[in-house]
Amino acid sequence: MIKEISSQSLNPQEFIDKQIREICDTVGDGVAINALSGGVDSSVVTALGHRAIGSRLKTVFIENGLMRENEPKKVQAIFSEIGVSVEIIDARKDFFDALRGIEDPEEKREAVTQTFYKNVFGKLVRESGAKYLLQGTILTDVDETVAGIKRQHNVFEQLGINPEHAFGYRIIEPLIQLRKDGVRRVGEALGLTASVFNRIPFPGPALAARIIGEVTPQRVEIVRKATAIVEESLKNTGAFQYMAILHKDKVTGIRNGNRDFGLQVEVRCWDSVDAREAKPTQIAFDVLEKMASDIVSQVPGVVSVTYHIASKPPSTMEVV
Ligand code: XMP
Repeated sequence: MIKEISSQSLNPQEFIDKQIREICDTVGDGVAINALSGGVDSSVVTALGHRAIGSRLKTVFIENGLMRENEPKKVQAIFSEIGVSVEIIDARKDFFDALRGIEDPEEKREAVTQTFYKNVFGKLVRESGAKYLLQGTILTDVDETVAGIKRQHNVFEQLGINPEHAFGYRIIEPLIQLRKDGVRRVGEALGLTASVFNRIPFPGPALAARIIGEVTPQRVEIVRKATAIVEESLKNTGAFQYMAILHKDKVTGIRNGNRDFGLQVEVRCWDSVDAREAKPTQIAFDVLEKMASDIVSQVPGVVSVTYHIASKPPSTMEVV
């Protein structure tokens, strides 16, 4: 049982000092590796790890082909400003090969997990000589996985999987007692910029969690374009998280007077404190209309845009 540290009871500086001591004790004079995705949790764990062991933490960005627009370069630039060098690893082929033909949500998550931890990371760890993977698992990831709601891609020991046996390295998870609001406070105390620690959450399986049906490079490109428009349109809402989802079913549309049997994109925007429960954000209708008009005019093949209005539960925030 993991003991939760609520955001209210968290003393960020004490927390940071304790985690740094533990990382140093565990890694000793060895080498650790971590994957930075640009999300809040991995950004905070990267900053914490570098505070603890400096350049003995090798940070990589796995370009899995499922990330948001220009994300690899953007993340590399942000961290270069705070003196952390990030190597971009092109693993697009591994992920798309593993995802080919899969439609079931949990199988999709499992394909991303296995490709990441076994194939791509396993190889990197062997090559780098690292014995430890530092990663930003948080308590909400563990809760939902253990409850059987969603297999969060970064949870192992709580499922009885020993990463050392399964993948050949140990996993260090300094943020595991926190929820998102606590992680943001730690990020702030570590001196990260607000645009990093206040960023909206982004899931480990990345845009694959936002595609109903098969994940192909073409379908990711559609959801990526729609995501960029949604993030730009809703950035001033103050919402916890917002996203575009690509549906599998096509619908009849009309374009230039002709029938266009096209794609549908669903927009979700959530108000939440810690992602355990969430409500749809009440967005002004003119903002929704402008966003829909931008999506249908700029994202090829899309003829329908809907806004999700149910709460979590019974919905979940991501669609997969
Ligand atoms: P759900 O969809 O379960 O999402 O209501 C709750 C929060 O968790 C994020 N999420 C994930 N984060 N790995 C992650 O690191 C995952 O596999 C994953 N799945 C969902 C989601 O974006 C939301 O903030």
